[in-house]
Amino acid sequence: MNNDSRENFGSKIGAVLAAAGSAVGLGNIWRFPIETGQNGGAAFIIVYIGCVLLLGIPIMMSEFIIGRHTHTNTAGAYRKLAPGTSWKWVGRLGVLSGFVILSYYSVVAGWTAEYTALAITNYFDGKGANDFPAIFAKFVSNPWLSVSLMLAFMIVTHVIVIRGVKSGIEKFSKVMMPALFVILIILAICSVMLPGASQGLEFLLKPDFSKITGSTVLSAMGQAFFSLSLGLGCLCTYASYFGNDTNIGKTALNVSIIDTFVAVMSGFIIFPAVFNAGYTLSSEDIGPSLLFITMPNVFQQAFGSMPVLSYVVSVLFYFLLVVAALTSTISMHEVVTAYVSEEFTMTRRKAATIVTIACSTVGVFCALSFGPLDGFKLFGMTLFDLFDYVSSNIFLPVGGMFIALFVGWYLDKKMVRDEVTNNGTLRAPYLRLIVFILRYVAPIAIGFILINQLGLVKLF
Ligand code: PHE
Repeated sequence: MNNDSRENFGSKIGAVLAAAGSAVGLGNIWRFPIETGQNGGAAFIIVYIGCVLLLGIPIMMSEFIIGRHTHTNTAGAYRKLAPGTSWKWVGRLGVLSGFVILSYYSVVAGWTAEYTALAITNYFDGKGANDFPAIFAKFVSNPWLSVSLMLAFMIVTHVIVIRGVKSGIEKFSKVMMPALFVILIILAICSVMLPGASQGLEFLLKPDFSKITGSTVLSAMGQAFFSLSLGLGCLCTYASYFGNDTNIGKTALNVSIIDTFVAVMSGFIIFPAVFNAGYTLSSEDIGPSLLFITMPNVFQQAFGSMPVLSYVVSVLFYFLLVVAALTSTISMHEVVTAYVSEEFTMTRRKAATIVTIACSTVGVFCALSFGPLDGFKLFGMTLFDLFDYVSSNIFLPVGGMFIALFVGWYLDKKMVRDEVTNNGTLRAPYLRLIVFILRYVAPIAIGFILINQLGLVKLF
């Protein structure tokens, strides 16, 4: 497909919202509160913000530079910039990561759809703390339901992706992202006004620095990668649709601010309500089941005396999750679709169909990991857990490290400067600092997590 026929985002704000849509997802509303709960609250948030500033923004800028300069899919981008070298494998690894994450992420996304339906039909009404674990267990182990919901989510993603960049992805993000902010703020206000909310607020705002350990830093760094959609060329692919007037530095800053804002706001929704409902921070309450076991009960308890409010808050909360998950699944699908369509020269529609069928097939096995296939283990993990572990703990950091090395060391400095300054029309006094981070700080820091997480050397 030649570059002239390639679509671009129609507006700068559309580009920012689409990239923010990719970043804002289950990582913010589900994973961030869990990590914050398990790693000491305010102190973790400070370290997390440090990681976003120090690693997230420079690597996001790198993805933008690669994508916008080449105007092609992530694997093609490396081929164009470094022909005949092995750098293309960084792009290919990214495409593989997008594929793998999409197949298991759609399973959880399907759950959010089911819980929205349960909330709408007022199913949670009158249920107590003891009922929710059983409801969740019964639901996830029902193979038909899990698989159908995953497929439904994949099909909706597919439909938006085949509509193209401007009238599919951009249009959807432009409507849904503002809606998401409004819901988020309403929910945070409701939560913060609950009696007893102060304990939750204190947890989020009063740092106890003695809680910062090596593993806190490592978790914060991993969370920053996942949450900002970094390391797999997702934002590189989106940047290939940026116009030439998009300011790369400013866009990276805006996307990172939006993503961090949503994560912190989710903390403000979840923790005051969790403490109000009398939960502790034991790992059971603030574990992976947080959204599906703890939260439905929290809404019942916290707003129990106001059934209408409890109903509205639950519906809005799960709808928020569906929207956040969908804008992220779209971005993962787009990484793979752009690759298949451009590298194997076929129409977007055909490429998207192949991707949807392939991902859904793998997704079926991930969905069944909670039911009939829960005994099928590879490396001691179910397929779902294995995909989650391998992609976020290995693929994304490895991808991020190579992206930093590629832009920091391999790319021509003038080209990098031209991209960041839009050929000298913008000022970018921060560029030297960014390049320094890309050359030294990011690869060393990420190398550190990888070695530690893979257990090659146990540093902490
Ligand atoms: N950033 C998304 C989230 O927070 C997840 C994601 C990871 C999306 C990688 C695209 C690529 O949920």
